[in-house]
Amino acid sequence: MPWLNERNRMWRERAREVAEKVVRPLARKYDIEQVYPWEIKEALAEAGLMSVWIPKEYGGAGDGILDLCICIEELSRACGGVGVLYCVNALGSFPILVGATEEQKKKYLPRVASGKSLIAFCLSEKFAGSDAGSLRAQAVPDGDYYVLKGEKKWTTNGGAADLYSVYAVTDANSRSRRISAFMVEKGTPGFGIGKIEDKMGIRCVPVVETTFDNCRVHKSQLLGGEPGFGFKNAMGTLDLARPGVAAQGVGVAQGALEYAQVYAARREQFGQPINSFQMIQQMLADMATQTEAARQLVYAAAHAADTKTGNTGKLAAMCKYFATDTAMRVATDAVQIFGGYGFMRDYPIEKYMRDAKITQIYEGTNQVQRMVVARHLVKETAALSKLLDAYIPREVQKGYNDPATLAAQAAEPKPEAAKA
Ligand code: CAA
Repeated sequence: MPWLNERNRMWRERAREVAEKVVRPLARKYDIEQVYPWEIKEALAEAGLMSVWIPKEYGGAGDGILDLCICIEELSRACGGVGVLYCVNALGSFPILVGATEEQKKKYLPRVASGKSLIAFCLSEKFAGSDAGSLRAQAVPDGDYYVLKGEKKWTTNGGAADLYSVYAVTDANSRSRRISAFMVEKGTPGFGIGKIEDKMGIRCVPVVETTFDNCRVHKSQLLGGEPGFGFKNAMGTLDLARPGVAAQGVGVAQGALEYAQVYAARREQFGQPINSFQMIQQMLADMATQTEAARQLVYAAAHAADTKTGNTGKLAAMCKYFATDTAMRVATDAVQIFGGYGFMRDYPIEKYMRDAKITQIYEGTNQVQRMVVARHLVKETAALSKLLDAYIPREVQKGYNDPATLAAQAAEPKPEAAKA
């Protein structure tokens, strides 16, 4: 990719090395055992990968979302579970980068950058998934403290993490400033880990319920120092994080494609390798083209987030659904190319299909992403009104912005009035 710079290439090489030397050989073991792979996390920290996206002043490498995405892609190519284990740490830290005070940034970010602390993101609840704004966990002020009550669902990294970005209601009567964000440390009395989920894919990373039973957090842990900015913080966080899930999709797709290429070259039927058959060739060509298209969109979205050019939220949503739908399609086709063997656990490919599925669901379902893109398009349409006169037949415009038509319509008797 010609426009990637030296730094981008350096991170790719480093992540690829860890992926091939450490992650790929252990992927199956942790998929079976479904326990947190601490040895992999240590290797990631040792290679400096936990610091990529964190600014230098807080102990990070000072690189950006594009570098983060490149690392996620390389790790996910070897194991989709490790891809999310890594990228969810960025998700958990973004609420701090987006909206914390300087003091809070200095307190928490160096711990994340060094890999000493893992961090998780607690937004979703049993009854608040896509409709994140309807969450019910409460944070009630009590002197210098807030008392957190409620529970969270789908906390990825939960249990393994020391730090939790938690969203709770501080003003139930407000519409736009109802929610606030807090940093909660593991070990705080009242904070607990509930149900540990048994998952279809990404099995090496824990997904749990987190519980807050009169959990007292000091007001200095209210992110940004002022209540009421939690929902905007969550949305700003997701705008930065979604390219990461999209990069996970690209990595899973690339990894599945590579296994399919190798299998199709080796597997012989009718006296020849199956990659000599046009139907298999067409599948491989489509898989490769879709993966590359997804990669380019992810990099464009990540670059826009880093340079604050373009529309970060719209591009983040676009790349999230495009790349993760691609991952699912490519992984499913890869299983198809493996035939009956692809369905068996003896081969690595079925794991790609299982790992791909969740990427279409978490960090905002792909239906929500389409809704976000569509909302942007509807808003942008006003700026396109000049096209009405230039290109759209007048009868289609009728009643839209043509003053003469509007005046004539207004003068016409209403059907009911005409009957009377
Ligand atoms: N940045 C900043 N502010 C934003 C924003 C953004 N991208 N998007 C919306 N806002 C602001 C709006 O301007 C509005 O502000 P005002 O009230 O001041 O006008 C406010 O937020 C409400 O906006 P909307 O009316 O658009 O909000 P909504 O209720 O219609 O919801 C939504 C929008 C896009 C559906 C949102 O709820 C959403 O993204 N849902 C999906 C949630 C999600 O992704 N959850 C995944 C959690 S993480 C996870 O999966 C687990 C894991 O560990 C991997």
